[in-house]
Amino acid sequence: MKRVLIIGASGQVGGTLASLCVRRKIEVYGTSRRGQGFLYMDLADKASIAAGFEKSAPDTVFLCSAMTHVDNCERDPGLATLVNAQGPGLVAEECLRRGSKLVYFSTEYVFDGAAGPYSEEDPVSPVSVYGRTKLGGERAVLNLKGSLAVRTTVVYSHNPASKNFIMQLISNYRSGAKMRVPLDQYSNPTYAPELAAAVLDLAGGGAAGIYNVVGPDWMNRYEFALKACSVFGFDPGFIEPRPTSELGQSAPRPLKAGLKTGKLVKRLGRGLPPTAESLAKIAAVIEQYE
Ligand SMILES: NC(=O)c1ccc[n+]([C@@H]2O[C@H](COP(=O)([O-])OP(=O)(O)OC[C@H]3O[C@@H](n4cnc5c(N)ncnc54)[C@H](OP(=O)(O)O)[C@@H]3O)[C@@H](O)[C@H]2O)c1
Repeated sequence: MKRVLIIGASGQVGGTLASLCVRRKIEVYGTSRRGQGFLYMDLADKASIAAGFEKSAPDTVFLCSAMTHVDNCERDPGLATLVNAQGPGLVAEECLRRGSKLVYFSTEYVFDGAAGPYSEEDPVSPVSVYGRTKLGGERAVLNLKGSLAVRTTVVYSHNPASKNFIMQLISNYRSGAKMRVPLDQYSNPTYAPELAAAVLDLAGGGAAGIYNVVGPDWMNRYEFALKACSVFGFDPGFIEPRPTSELGQSAPRPLKAGLKTGKLVKRLGRGLPPTAESLAKIAAVIEQYE
């Protein structure tokens, strides 16, 4: 891997991946629909995809872009289909034309959440527009021989530009706002820098097909919030546990979700570190810079 195109380098996962590629001396081109220092690319605009490939000529493409707001996808299924399902198909066509390896970021939301955590072989059954359209993208990508689809979930990191769960928790704690947190949504919190490292190692080692890449601890969102408060030294009184049914979310959620990582551990000889260890890294950043 010498020259990579990161589609969605302005996002949490794409940005983390880009930083790691730079540290590993890999040449990086990153895309966004806004901002300087990025190649312009809109997954809903075929010409911009072709132009991005023309400028970067990548040996490997990481497709991190998506319409990630689950409730917005439910409200605008047409746009979600264009961006999450059809866009990846167009990217796969470009990769086929140029012989680039394609790595796609998928989600546990391809499952219905009746019986998680899930392995790569379990039958999919998405319950939301986000889940259905991401599954469409995953299938379009896997049609391309040698491509890799990484399923992940509840990705967090210290990134002031991101609204990930941990950044929301820190911001609510600081402003004194209450934070309603579902106590019945189970999954595996996943630390973005560890996700990026595992995915680079998988892709660099020639892995193909579907791999689950998530943290090792399966818990509900309330338990995750309490664990973060404990590691950060926050009084958890601002966290209000609620059943999902009381949160007024537009899209249904897979409740008992989460992913198993046996296949990842077998391939890399390691899984991701425990959640408490990753949260401690964020605590160190908070103490040092804030
Ligand atoms: N975060 C999670 O918990 C999680 C869980 C499971 C799976 N995933 C998957 O992991 C990937 C990365 O997630 P993330 O947390 O990094 O998301 P994020 O922070 O919300 O970033 C989303 C990215 O998508 C780009 N984007 C949105 N609409 C686009 C469009 N029409 N054309 C091109 N780019 C577009 C955004 O770029 P601009 O707005 O700058 O153009 C941004 O770079 C996604 O595919 C997501 O489905 C994430």
